[in-house]
Amino acid sequence: MSRKHLLVGNWKMNLGPHQAREFASSLAAEISALKRTDVWVCPPMVSLAAASEALLSSPVLVGAQNVHWAKTGAFTGETSPLFLKDLDVTFSLTGHSERRTYFGETSETVAMRTETALAEGLKVIVCVGETETERANGTTDQVLGDQLAPVFARLSAALAPQVVIAYEPVWAIGTGKVASIQDIAATHKFIQQLWNAQGYDHQPTILYGGSVNPQNFAEILALKEVSGALVGGASIKLDQWLELIRIAEATAE
Ligand code: 13P
Repeated sequence: MSRKHLLVGNWKMNLGPHQAREFASSLAAEISALKRTDVWVCPPMVSLAAASEALLSSPVLVGAQNVHWAKTGAFTGETSPLFLKDLDVTFSLTGHSERRTYFGETSETVAMRTETALAEGLKVIVCVGETETERANGTTDQVLGDQLAPVFARLSAALAPQVVIAYEPVWAIGTGKVASIQDIAATHKFIQQLWNAQGYDHQPTILYGGSVNPQNFAEILALKEVSGALVGGASIKLDQWLELIRIAEATAE
């Protein structure tokens, strides 16, 4: 049986509460029932409530961009998975490359965040990806393996279905450079093999991210190794986001 596509918009540090409500209301007004695609969006933390309210009667799910590994405590500036649940948020990203690059997150802390979020009943999209230098040096597989190893070490087969992997080459994020179709297919296949080596009893959902737009999406989504996309820039431009949803709905798996 074919699986639905998954299209996730990461709004990053864009759209504060008022703008988020406005954008989400416009999205809710434009979007009709979805047959083949799950659509999720990740507003900034302070905009989660506004976006959730505006999207309440739409099929779009709202999630966080990050989540902490502790349930409460002295962790200034962080957000507990319990607080996300309190807002009826159903999922979170972890390990986005901007968190790793600018905020010193390590694969170990990403794994800790992932573990607690899953234990508290959230779904998690774990983001991984290599830098341009790492790809040029031929170490992409090693880097991805090292990023995922601590996550797998803490992930039981029972909770594995709640995890999505997002492959986002760092050099393709926000740059307009997209990985080649061959590289996307090969890298997703490699991640699939890593996953299968853990003995989880289902195939992983693996998203591609990095400069996805309405011009390149159909070709990427046509790859059998690709389950969908994690989108930054094009997810906060309503016309482009609606077009990506339309493409996901129209593309055969
Ligand atoms: P862009 O789509 O803007 O390249 O961002 C990708 C990304 O980082 C999504 O998490």
